[in-house]
Amino acid sequence: MQEEIAVSCKNVKKTFGMGTSRVEALRGVDLEVKKGELLMLMGPSGSGKTTLISVIAGILTQTEGECCVSGIDLNHMPDKMKTVYRGKHIGFVFQAFNLIPMLTCAENVSIPLVINGVDRKMALEKAKKLLADVGIPEKVDIFPTKLSGGQQQRVAIARSMIHNPHLIVCDEPTSFLDHDTGMKVMDLLRSIAGKDGKTLIVVSHDVRITKFADRIARLEDGKILP
Ligand SMILES: Nc1ncnc2c1ncn2[C@@H]1O[C@H](COP(=O)(O)OP(=O)(O)OP(=O)(O)O)[C@@H](O)[C@H]1O
Ligand SMILES: [Mg+2]
Repeated sequence: MQEEIAVSCKNVKKTFGMGTSRVEALRGVDLEVKKGELLMLMGPSGSGKTTLISVIAGILTQTEGECCVSGIDLNHMPDKMKTVYRGKHIGFVFQAFNLIPMLTCAENVSIPLVINGVDRKMALEKAKKLLADVGIPEKVDIFPTKLSGGQQQRVAIARSMIHNPHLIVCDEPTSFLDHDTGMKVMDLLRSIAGKDGKTLIVVSHDVRITKFADRIARLEDGKILP
């Protein structure tokens, strides 16, 4: 049986700016990620990692090329449909957590469900359960500004999974974490990958976590190394 492809990028290019400020962040990326796989995307600073996963997640639109998630090119969808699709099927853990300081941890985690129309009380119950799963049940009613970097990252990971997306994209999930916490976060991500066919793309510089990957892709100067 042919393996299902979760993500397929063909000759993806992304250019920022114009004239002298023009930057070619992606210069023709070809990449396939199998369903259920945990792919680690590595590469030096500025090589285009964040840009690539932002295109894959439909947060940025490529300048050229095709990028499909479960066979659908998000960038051919009207903006409104794209936002709905992303909100239902994709989870994103940002390089800088992006938690909302005025909301408690449970409220932060519940956001993707509330956006999808789930009753607030039910969403909060599920958020509390997930915060327990990621090891910080006691932080449910705490505001994120009172948490350590590692704890904030766990909240961000819980938020990325709550709506049961089939693709989760994580930008440097261990970069602010000490070794032990980083390993725990990766254990957690590893345990999610493959479950119900969930696919994970994890961006990292961190060679200590390569052992968690099914496969490693390297990006350099906006291209995947062969
Ligand atoms: N919004 C933007 N406007 C202009 N240039 C940008 C923008 N975003 C990224 N770039 C440029 O695109 C290139 C790739 O950036 P990107 O953030 O994807 O790299 P990265 O591999 O994630 O780096 P890091 O490891 O430091 O996070 C860089 O040269 C960067 O300056
Ligand atoms: Mg980056």
